[in-house]
Amino acid sequence: MSTHLCDFTTLSDTQKAMILTWRNHEKVRAFMYHAQMISREEHLRFIESLKTSHDKRYFLVQHKGVDIGVIDFTHITPQHATIGLYANPNLHRTGLGKELMNTIITYGFETLHVKKLCAELFAFNTKAKALYEAFGFCETVHKTINKQEIICMELENEHRSF
Ligand SMILES: CC(C)(COP(=O)(O)OP(=O)(O)OC[C@H]1O[C@@H](n2cnc3c(N)ncnc32)[C@H](O)[C@@H]1OP(=O)(O)O)[C@@H](O)C(=O)NCCC(=O)NCCS
Repeated sequence: MSTHLCDFTTLSDTQKAMILTWRNHEKVRAFMYHAQMISREEHLRFIESLKTSHDKRYFLVQHKGVDIGVIDFTHITPQHATIGLYANPNLHRTGLGKELMNTIITYGFETLHVKKLCAELFAFNTKAKALYEAFGFCETVHKTINKQEIICMELENEHRSF
């Protein structure tokens, strides 16, 4: 298969450093709940903590040998999981979001076997919203966190488009 998932708990030091630069890039952190810069120590502690977290999985996604982004699954239960993604901010081409979303949907429904995938995004993140909608995610509720409007969306396995 042309897409490969590297579990964060198995990353090399070089891969860990690369992902920290992505996560701290303004094009990525502006869309995260935790929008502050993350230190190297905090990043390494977080990756280490994943070894004993059973309800979270984070992956570096490689497509045709290229590091295209990160996807994650949190709050995993047999019923559902909350998803997240960000594209490699140093790759200047379109289609990365679609590749990442294809990978999320396949892994979520065919490996985790959850019934539903949930997502939360800032209302101003029109690009991500359009991406989620293109894959069949529907809005459920709106909420406010730190004075920011958040849109909650979900996709049930039976409603997926592929
Ligand atoms: C969200 C993100 C992964 C999208 O990646 P991308 O490579 O730009 O997405 P794609 O090129 O695959 O585009 C997928 C779809 O997104 C939508 N889209 C892309 N650019 C858009 C834009 N400027 N405005 C509105 N919608 C847009 C379109 O629906 C597009 O489909 P189309 O090309 O058929 O019209 C990327 O922008 C990112 O990493 N953002 C920062 C992190 C983030 O916001 N994560 C999601 C919320 S947690």
